[in-house]
Amino acid sequence: MAVTESSHRQHEWEQRYSAGKTGWDRGQVSPALRHWLAAGQLPAGRVLVPGCGHGHEVAELIRAGCQVTAVDIASQPVMRLLGQLAELGLYANVVQADLLHWQPPGPFDAVYEQTCLCALDPGHWAAYESRLADWLRPGGSLLALFMQTGHQGGPPFDCPLPDMRSLFGAARWVWPDEPPLQVPHPNGLVEIGYLLTRR
Ligand SMILES: C[S@@+](CC[C@H](N)C(=O)[O-])C[C@H]1O[C@@H](n2cnc3c(N)ncnc32)[C@H](O)[C@@H]1O
Repeated sequence: MAVTESSHRQHEWEQRYSAGKTGWDRGQVSPALRHWLAAGQLPAGRVLVPGCGHGHEVAELIRAGCQVTAVDIASQPVMRLLGQLAELGLYANVVQADLLHWQPPGPFDAVYEQTCLCALDPGHWAAYESRLADWLRPGGSLLALFMQTGHQGGPPFDCPLPDMRSLFGAARWVWPDEPPLQVPHPNGLVEIGYLLTRR
């Protein structure tokens, strides 16, 4: 059953890439990552980029001194990212896998979560949150960009703040006091960015 569901998920995302229906793709590094790097808020350690897509942020993270693992369920962005990194002479561990089943060999210091959550069916969000918590070392950082669509259905699925506060509950996560980043997207939607800390 799990293999069938995974294959189905992969097929859906491969189709979007084949058809060029990649409206989420900025084509460049997100201003949110630039902000967190400039503010020194991203530790230069082991960083996971789940649902990396074309992974514009991966090279930026490597150049900032991070050891990056990037994961996506679709083969097309994974192959493209591997080719681009090779051209740039950079290395990341780029993996094609379903994050709802994948297990890394060890914990990460940070996870850069740029709109992977909103790509998953909300029925899987609790399992994904639990996986994120397991993948991070205690005190590790979750740099999360929560998609705001304001409507039902998806992907992208709406990630309203009250739901995110409940999903990433206080038992496992420390929320910052500062207001979130407001990150406009060229597609007209807005992401809100929070740096959460794993307890
Ligand atoms: C909204 S896109 C975001 C891509 C990239 N982070 C960005 O901001 O450009 C979501 C990505 O998550 C990937 N994805 C969806 N479900 C996944 C899963 N179960 N496991 C791994 N990757 C998944 C998709 O293939 C897609 O590349």
